[in-house]
Amino acid sequence: MPETLPKADPRRIARFLREVGEIGADPRGGWSRLAFGPEEREAHAVFERWVTDLGLTSSTDAIGNTLGELAGNTPGSALLVGSHLDTVPRGGGFDGVAGVAAALEVARLLIESGGLNRTYRAVVFSGEEGARFGAPCIGSRIATGAFTTDTLSTLTDREGCSVLERAAEVGLRPTNAAEAVWSQGSVSAFLELHIEQGRVLEARGRTLGVVDAIAGSTRVELAFSGNADHSGATPMLLRHDALVGASELVVEAERRASSHRTAVATVGDLEVVPGSFTTVPGEARLSLDVRDVDSERQRELAEELLDGAGRIAARRGLELSAVLVSDQSPVVLHKPVREQLARAAHERDVPFCVLPSGATHDTAHVAKAAPAGMVFVPSRQGVSHAPDEWSSVEDIARGVEVMAAALRALDEQEGP
Ligand code: HGY
Ligand code: MN
Ligand code: MN
Repeated sequence: MPETLPKADPRRIARFLREVGEIGADPRGGWSRLAFGPEEREAHAVFERWVTDLGLTSSTDAIGNTLGELAGNTPGSALLVGSHLDTVPRGGGFDGVAGVAAALEVARLLIESGGLNRTYRAVVFSGEEGARFGAPCIGSRIATGAFTTDTLSTLTDREGCSVLERAAEVGLRPTNAAEAVWSQGSVSAFLELHIEQGRVLEARGRTLGVVDAIAGSTRVELAFSGNADHSGATPMLLRHDALVGASELVVEAERRASSHRTAVATVGDLEVVPGSFTTVPGEARLSLDVRDVDSERQRELAEELLDGAGRIAARRGLELSAVLVSDQSPVVLHKPVREQLARAAHERDVPFCVLPSGATHDTAHVAKAAPAGMVFVPSRQGVSHAPDEWSSVEDIARGVEVMAAALRALDEQEGP
């Protein structure tokens, strides 16, 4: 019977958050450690140092996923815990980082209580945020075989550079991405701790959330093209103003999504060309992010909005282009893993509830290759993807103890 698990240490968690927080601080506020940028690699180096200090074996794969391994007493499949260290532009200090701190603290608890039968791996996936290249979860989708080197050449940032180019620039080996694919059955379960990024736990007074499903997302880049004209000499009736067309779509996206209980639609990025005080906008490029835990409704809403954009363009004499950047279905997480997490929380009197995730996570992709589970810690006022993002290290410590106990139970189960 394994020894009882020690308590997690909020001070160690806070120290890791502080050390990563010294990387990529944005002078305008928040943090900008963009996917496949130098700051993301610097943050992975901090993780690597912590892994080594814990006595784990560290490695980095061809696409930049960094792992720390604690060998098990018996060979075979591994139990993984992890998250990501990249951020959205001017993002917060807890999104992803909290989960990596948790993976390290779980490792410490396991080491101090005799380890596991199976191998334990703490993992930091590269390129989780879709903010730079449109598609999220690049590292975990390479590891699970959903993305290939070819995919990496099609995903480009605002400067037109592909993931292939950017990953090579920071010293990774993206053309060898196939080497990073996990072999079949090599992972017996994966857990991720993440900040909720919403308001449910805080509103319900819960310390922990056990996630049952992760929303899907359909992400489209749209461009309305009209006539760039003189803002003073062009009568209103003769204009083909691209920005007014785009603005109609922004309002329609809000109106249509608001009529569904779990759907959301967001235009988070809008670029006006030429963007001059005295020129009627000739072009307006916008990002459309449509999400739902209901796959059909997610796609229907995306379709409705693309049809709506077409009607707006026709009525205003504008051209419209639309590129599907990423489309992923909602994912229901594995019930046995969820039950182990719920049981561990219950046995530790940690007030929890089961809830879906509106945000997408690496767990959604790992779940296609191995049993996966996710716990949330409350986000203060639900703020995330913004400098004021904050969660309590005490809540993260409780989440660590619940995950370590669930891992112990999963480790005792028979099977590969
Ligand atoms: O986009 C998301 O939902 C996540 O923050 N990557
Ligand atoms: Mn995240
Ligand atoms: Mn995020």
